[in-house]
Amino acid sequence: SSDKKSFTRVWCDGCYDMVHFGHANSLRQAKEMGDYLIVGVHTDEEIRKHKGPPVFNEEERYRMVRAIKWVDEVVEGAPYVTTKDTLEKYNCAFCVHGDDITMTADGKDTYQEVKDAKLYRECQRTAGISTTDLVGRMLLLTRDHLNRSESEEAITSGKGESSPWTGASQFLQTSRKIMQFADTKGPKAGDRIVYVAGAFDLFHIGHLDFLEAAAKEGDYLIVGLHPDSVVNKYKGSNSPIMNLNERVLNTLAYRVVSEVVIGAPYAVSAELMDSFKVDVVVHGITPIFEDYDGADPYAEPKRRGKFKLIDSGNPLTTEDIITRILKNRLDF
Ligand code: CTP
Ligand code: C5P
Repeated sequence: SSDKKSFTRVWCDGCYDMVHFGHANSLRQAKEMGDYLIVGVHTDEEIRKHKGPPVFNEEERYRMVRAIKWVDEVVEGAPYVTTKDTLEKYNCAFCVHGDDITMTADGKDTYQEVKDAKLYRECQRTAGISTTDLVGRMLLLTRDHLNRSESEEAITSGKGESSPWTGASQFLQTSRKIMQFADTKGPKAGDRIVYVAGAFDLFHIGHLDFLEAAAKEGDYLIVGLHPDSVVNKYKGSNSPIMNLNERVLNTLAYRVVSEVVIGAPYAVSAELMDSFKVDVVVHGITPIFEDYDGADPYAEPKRRGKFKLIDSGNPLTTEDIITRILKNRLDF
């Protein structure tokens, strides 16, 4: 463009292990500080050296970060310590990091050099979400199922945004945050609308592979997220790990998602299909649990000849991730 002088390339880097909306929110803020966002992601080996083994391998982490809607480019295997040389190499004006301090294995601030060179800017860390916190919730999940009266008590006693099931979340959702994450453009005339529904708990690379495959069935992808109580009913245990508000942001962070239905009904109803002008309803390879009355939740789209099963080729589930994390903890 003719505006070359004011075109600002911004650098972020990190582990981005178990990517959540806190990471996405930092990338969103960084993108707002410039025009083009480059994200350096560390290798497994670097992470192992400085803070212990990651849960997701580097190929998975590169792919997840690349799919976040504010990311323009990913640099694979970026060094753990951010230097002036790295910023220069990728022609970035400055780097952005949350307002928490990251240390190397020998206790040095990984951003000291760029801070001294005034090439460092801070964004606001998202309160109420971190990998450590998620791991804590997973440990709760493996305990006995909360009994119904206990969970109902948790709702009525007004424990903020906590999931009544895992009983853990400090995150406060706001309309502003949803707007910042949402796509403001609706579908264009003639767009083929694809609808999928699910829990999308701990949004992971299996979900991403599935959504990218589903999106290929049309032009505009709507993701229905079931309420916490519904997810709990069909997934059992203390699911979901992330409450509806958190799952909304986690899902909206990805470029492939056009729109989210917040608290979608379990069964895909005629009303839903008509109001969103849904052309095709898609489900992945995981089993389809029947509705509380024994009905097939996809009966309506099937009746209309608008249902499709697709295999994304990725068998990963939220349960697999929990298993990986528990194993990873034992490796420390
Ligand atoms: N980040 C944030 N808000 C959070 C969690 C992370 O803004 N709730 C930011 C960090 O400040 C950093 C970027 O996300 O700028 C990537 O950080 P990374 O090294 O991947 O993660 P951690 O800071 O270790 O985050 P977590 O503890 O959740 O793994
Ligand atoms: O399990 P959950 O409700 O989050 O799944 C949401 C959707 O993603 C479902 O259609 C499911 O079949 C699909 N999925 C998939 N491959 C995975 C994980 C989920 O196709 N590995």
